[in-house]
Amino acid sequence: MTAASPVLVLRDVAKSFSGVRALNRVSLRIERDECCALVGANGAGKSTLINIACGAVQPDSGVLLLGDDETTIRSPHMAIELGIATVHQHDQLVPNLTVAENLSLGRERTKAAGLLSNPTRESLAALEMVGLGDRADDLVESMTLAERQLLAIARAVSLRPRLLILDEPTAALTPNETKYLVEVIERVRSAGTSLLYVTHRLQELEEVADRIAVMRDGQVVAERPPETSEAELVELIAGKGIVAHDEELVERRRRRAFDRHEERNAEAVLVARGVSDREGAFTDISFQLRPGEVLGIVGLPDAGVVQLVETLAGARRPSDGTIEVAGERLRGRSPREAGRRGIGYLAGDRARRGVIPNASVGETIALSGLSRMTRLGFIPGRRVAAQGEHLLEQCQVNAADPSVPVVTLSGGNQQKALFARVLATHPRVVVCEDPTAGVDVAGRESIYGLVSELCEHGGGVVWTGSDLREIATVCDRALVLWRGTLVADLQREELDEPTLMLAQFKRTVTTSQSVIRQDHPRGEYV
Ligand SMILES: Nc1ncnc2c1ncn2[C@@H]1O[C@H](COP(=O)(O)OP(=O)(O)OP(=O)(O)O)[C@@H](O)[C@H]1O
Ligand SMILES: [Mg+2]
Repeated sequence: MTAASPVLVLRDVAKSFSGVRALNRVSLRIERDECCALVGANGAGKSTLINIACGAVQPDSGVLLLGDDETTIRSPHMAIELGIATVHQHDQLVPNLTVAENLSLGRERTKAAGLLSNPTRESLAALEMVGLGDRADDLVESMTLAERQLLAIARAVSLRPRLLILDEPTAALTPNETKYLVEVIERVRSAGTSLLYVTHRLQELEEVADRIAVMRDGQVVAERPPETSEAELVELIAGKGIVAHDEELVERRRRRAFDRHEERNAEAVLVARGVSDREGAFTDISFQLRPGEVLGIVGLPDAGVVQLVETLAGARRPSDGTIEVAGERLRGRSPREAGRRGIGYLAGDRARRGVIPNASVGETIALSGLSRMTRLGFIPGRRVAAQGEHLLEQCQVNAADPSVPVVTLSGGNQQKALFARVLATHPRVVVCEDPTAGVDVAGRESIYGLVSELCEHGGGVVWTGSDLREIATVCDRALVLWRGTLVADLQREELDEPTLMLAQFKRTVTTSQSVIRQDHPRGEYV
């Protein structure tokens, strides 16, 4: 291999899965020392391309070149030996093992289990590189999503690859976490590793990528420099026709707010009074959610947002206070009970969200709807199927038909199917964590549309997530938590990304409507 040789070349690679063409003679070249970003709609074929590059899937036809040499990558193990390390879309860490043990997984395969906890020098260096140097003995289950992502990267980096492939590493990260990850990527690259990086977050590309490859329908349809405008990329990704319109969304929100004006005094759909967490994650939280309102809840990782949302959804039991749905007190101790009272819940962690491995797409959607219908004495059958199909269409789930196993859907399409499942119960209130994580531009638009529809029919939505820009666009109001207390209630006029960002640190301008104290020490502002 010469200095100018590319690291990896895919030439005319094709792959179909039982009739579904995932890759249609795709070609892509990854140069030395570059970070090539790969973007494209859900189901465009990004993960399939990656699976071929890392030996997890064999192509039907086409050629792979490593440097200048044609090669066959027969297995993930062989890919690693050839210098290709991959962090997949779905986290593959073992939660009840420690960081060090997870780092050794795979490489200590043949040795006794006792050796698992002795990380190699490379592993330790990689941990340092991602900023987890002091966490070797911690259990993975005690780590945040961002930390797990960093750990997965450390594990890949410790293999000293020539090419590091990251499939949507930032899908569930907050802006600050993403910023840190971008720094880590820069470190990896300056250590002489090329990167192939998949993302749906177009804003981060300019900082991360040297080149952007756009995939559509199983092909790379365009390559662009990192400074390419978001509008152009969106058009390339979606093909002509579908474009994200933030302004349109804002307009829709305004209209909704206007329509709702008379309902200001209408009975709240959800009321929290003095709710406190058993483990102290938050204390004394009170608020009301009005019909037709999308309420954002934001905060730093230690703010208690996740715990509060879990409590609202019945997945966590408060120590004090009450929660009422449409005037009725929520006494239930489970999401199922909350579901009966009209709360639909989409949990944030994909693993917890309940993709049931063997279930078909149709069954996945029907599951929550089913229990409702059987309770009412219906025998689920055609009606569920019909409703499921309709929802799939509304949520733009790209599946050949509802009978295909849900795990064969692309990541973003699984996410959309889970959102459809929440709607299948006809909830009065939807509580969702990062509902659009991993979802492409068009899919996001349809989720926003469905949320609007729910609101227009008098429902309410509690929305949390890592994407503050999205929260500023989608929500009518946002609560800000800081270390477990409610520090701000931002009204529509004040909702923009910078305000939300600052408010999380309790550092922002106080307006007539928002109550924010400014006693947060300067040094803690990251
Ligand atoms: N094992 C499989 N069996 C059947 N179909 C599959 C399988 N893996 C992928 N597909 C199909 O191939 C197509 C491409 O999927 P892929 O996962 O590569 O998309 P993607 O670009 O990664 O999307 P996302 O952004 O949603 O992650 C989809 O239509 C998907 O349903
Ligand atoms: Mg994917």
